[in-house]
Amino acid sequence: MSASAALAANTLRPSHLIEDQSAVTEVVLNAMSETPNRRLKEIMQSFVRHIHAFAREVRLTEEEFEIGIDFLNRLGQATHDAHNEGILFSDAIGFSTLVCLLNNGQAGATETASALLGPFWRMNAPRTENGGSIVRSETPGPTLFANCRVTDPEGRPLAGVDVDVWQASPAGMYENQDRSQADMNLRGKFTTDADGRFWFRSVKPAGYPVPTDGPVGELLRAQRRQPYRPAHLHFLAHKPGHKTLITQVFVDDDQHLESDVVFGATRHLVGDYRKGKGAPPAPDVIGPWYRLDYDFVMEPGESKLPTPPIK
Ligand code: BEZ
Ligand code: FE
Repeated sequence: MSASAALAANTLRPSHLIEDQSAVTEVVLNAMSETPNRRLKEIMQSFVRHIHAFAREVRLTEEEFEIGIDFLNRLGQATHDAHNEGILFSDAIGFSTLVCLLNNGQAGATETASALLGPFWRMNAPRTENGGSIVRSETPGPTLFANCRVTDPEGRPLAGVDVDVWQASPAGMYENQDRSQADMNLRGKFTTDADGRFWFRSVKPAGYPVPTDGPVGELLRAQRRQPYRPAHLHFLAHKPGHKTLITQVFVDDDQHLESDVVFGATRHLVGDYRKGKGAPPAPDVIGPWYRLDYDFVMEPGESKLPTPPIK
């Protein structure tokens, strides 16, 4: 019996008998057509359409299919409490940045202050007073004084915003990747004052290669891509009634500013890390120091927190 005859014989349950390759997509879409959750149905049917079209476009061989499945399995196997290879893959193919830009700046219509979260945000960073330091174990490098302000789109100060800050050390390592750093080194949670300001002391971040010892590293090497991110500070600003702002502020003279391996650097997010002249703001500073002044704008919206990529 042909697929159409089977369909006619049983209008409630369309046949899944496949005639040839050209029939597969419609049959799969049909199998999903009763999904009660409308958004799940829309997402999965679109996914099937696109991934089938992809296989047809590149004429995917069976060997390539096996390599792809093995790659996906290895992304999962390389993921654990302290490392998220799945996010890293999404970042490395520009997917995280695309989703970020589609969902911020008035749904992708305007420039946005947002950037990808990346795999290194941890919940429960230590609460730190304004003016305090996030250097929690010896971390050689130039001192950085950051002075930031958070406003609404009309420029009115937002008080009581919780702001998480996290960064890599001047050696280019996050504390969870580096046994020589104390737990939660270079991480802190601040609250903006009545004028929307928060400020802290740290060390100037350095650029760093993303982890390359897993399947994403293999892919980067196969594509002859450099693995570096330009130096940056991460921020996550949270206040009920405002869309959670996840962003990064990049060091303006970094050699990889225009070749970020995960495509997170946008023009809007280049900071002015100014080399300090004269007496530093604190008497104990030895050697060169820097100052960063940066203002953030939070859009109105839902104040959801992302799922932390690591513990
Ligand atoms: C980060 O900035 O922490 C990051 C983002 C994407 C991939 C790897 C690291
Ligand atoms: Fe980072």
